Parts: sequence; structure tokens; C-alpha cells
Amino acid sequence: MRVLDTVDAMAEACRSAQRPLGLVPTMGYLHQGHLALVRRARGENAALAVSIFVNPTQFGPGEDLPTYPRDMDRDLALLKKEGADLVFAPSVGEMYPQGMNTWVEVQGLSQRLEGEYRPGHFRGVATVVAKLLNIVRPDRAYFGQKDGQQTAVVKRLVKDLNMGVDVVVVPTVREADGLAMSSRNVHLSEEERRAASVLYHALRGAKRLWEGGQHDGEMLRGAVRRVLEKEPLVGKIDYVSVADLATLEELDTATIPAMVSVAAWLGKTRLIDNVVLGADS
Ligand code: PAJ
Repeated sequence: MRVLDTVDAMAEACRSAQRPLGLVPTMGYLHQGHLALVRRARGENAALAVSIFVNPTQFGPGEDLPTYPRDMDRDLALLKKEGADLVFAPSVGEMYPQGMNTWVEVQGLSQRLEGEYRPGHFRGVATVVAKLLNIVRPDRAYFGQKDGQQTAVVKRLVKDLNMGVDVVVVPTVREADGLAMSSRNVHLSEEERRAASVLYHALRGAKRLWEGGQHDGEMLRGAVRRVLEKEPLVGKIDYVSVADLATLEELDTATIPAMVSVAAWLGKTRLIDNVVLGADS
């Protein structure tokens, strides 16, 4: 496994990599959710590249960039075990050198849901993903359904800019009680951690209602909200959404493919989760 920290060295290594080449972009502090992407990519490609870069431009001013968890040595050991060929771990200065002044904005999609609460977030995501795809030029790039809106934004970006890479979406990996794995779960207190599975239970409840024939968007949103509100440790609920999977437009009638998603606070930690109607995740 080679670890590269400059754009030129990474681009060069990727040019001579075997094909097909798979890329898994991450911000590190790897858990089983990330590793599901890594394993899927390892299985489907002759060569595997993983990036580890805590991208400052996707964090807002008051957000958790300073406390975002990091452990490069552990990440590299895990990736070596998983059989990664190339790891790209650039500095902020390498990705955003003086004078860098081009931004990728996926309009519409980026303003919905998370975009309303994290303005500028998807501009940062789309820009760094475009840069990573241009540096690595993979045949396939892997993203988790956990960040459902991100997958919609990346698919749109790749299509709109004719980037010619297959975007592969991997189902959400969960803890035994249903909580979606996330690097940010480490910020939860013991009590909050116990309460946090309510997000998944609320979403599963909506999915069961839907499977039982309840397709009214407003009824489904209300059902999710009521379950969340019963948990005293859940603070502000930023949104509950039943939206078209590709356009993220709220649906009056939930036809497939649709995504039920939530963002809610447990103490000082903001959690997001989603389920797809008519699919497993
Ligand atoms: P990060 O949060 O590190 O996640 C990297 C990838 O792992 C994303 O595609 C995310 O959806 C996926 N992932 C995280 N938790 C998961 C889980 N429990 N199950 C399945 N997949 C999961 O997402 C980012 O980084 C960044 O925005 C990035 C795309 C790297 C751009 O900076």
C-alpha cells in the first residue's frame, strides 16, 4: 500500500494503477460504515484508492471542524488490512493552495434538507469530490446511503460535468440497535448514545407504514416526528422529509424511489439518518 500526500504523486500513481480503479473518498477516523465501501470497492475493482481528507470547506463557521475526530495511524493500518493499493492523504494547503478560486455548485439539490441548515456544505463537498475525481480519475467511486443527500448531489455533479465515473451507493451500516455508524457518534454521552437509536426506529416505523399502504407524505412525516418527540433526549428536530430520491423534492404521495430522512439533535451532537422506500437500506 502506498500513501501519497501530493496531488502530482497521487495523479501519477493512479495513471499507472491497474484498471478498473475504484475510489472511496473519506474524511478518515474509519469505522465499519467506511469499511463496507472499501470492501465493496476492493471486490469490484482491480485497484483500490482511498482518500483521507478532512475537508475544511464543507464545514460551516460554527461547526465541528476543530473537534472532528482523527487517527491517521489507525486508519492506515485498517486500510492496509483491507488491501487498499493507494491512499491519498493530502494537507489542506495541497488541496487548497493560494489562489484556488473555483467552486462547484450543484444548484437546487444543495439548498434542500441539509443545505438549509448547513449553507455552503454541499458546495464544499461538490468541490472536493470533483477535485478528487479529477486527481484519481477512477472508473467507480463509492458513497454511503448514510449521507443520502450527498449521493444525490454527487450523482448530479458527475452527470452534469460529464465526469464519466460510475457512482456506486452502498447501504447504510448500523450498530446492533440500529444507530447508523458515524464518526460523530463518539461525541454522544452514554445516555445520548442509548437514546440515539430512536432515529432509526422512527424511520423504520415510517417504512413499515409505507409497506402497509400508507403513501401520504404528510402522514409519514408526522409519524416519524411523533416517535422522535417521545424521546426526551432528542432536542431540536431540524427536519423530517419524505422526498424523491434524485431531486429531493418533498412528496405529497410517496412513490418509489423515495427517501425518508431526518436530522435531529441529541445534546450538542447533530445526527442524520434515512431509509429508502422500496429498498433495503
Ligand atoms: P465521511 O463522513 O468520512 O464518509 C465517507 C463515506 O463513508 C461517505 O460516502 C459516507 O456516506 C460513507 N459512510 C459513512 N458512514 C456510513 C455508514 N454508517 N454506512 C455506510 N456508509 C457510510 O462523507 C464524507 O466523509 C465527505 O463528505 C466526503 C465525501 C469524503 C467529501 O469530503
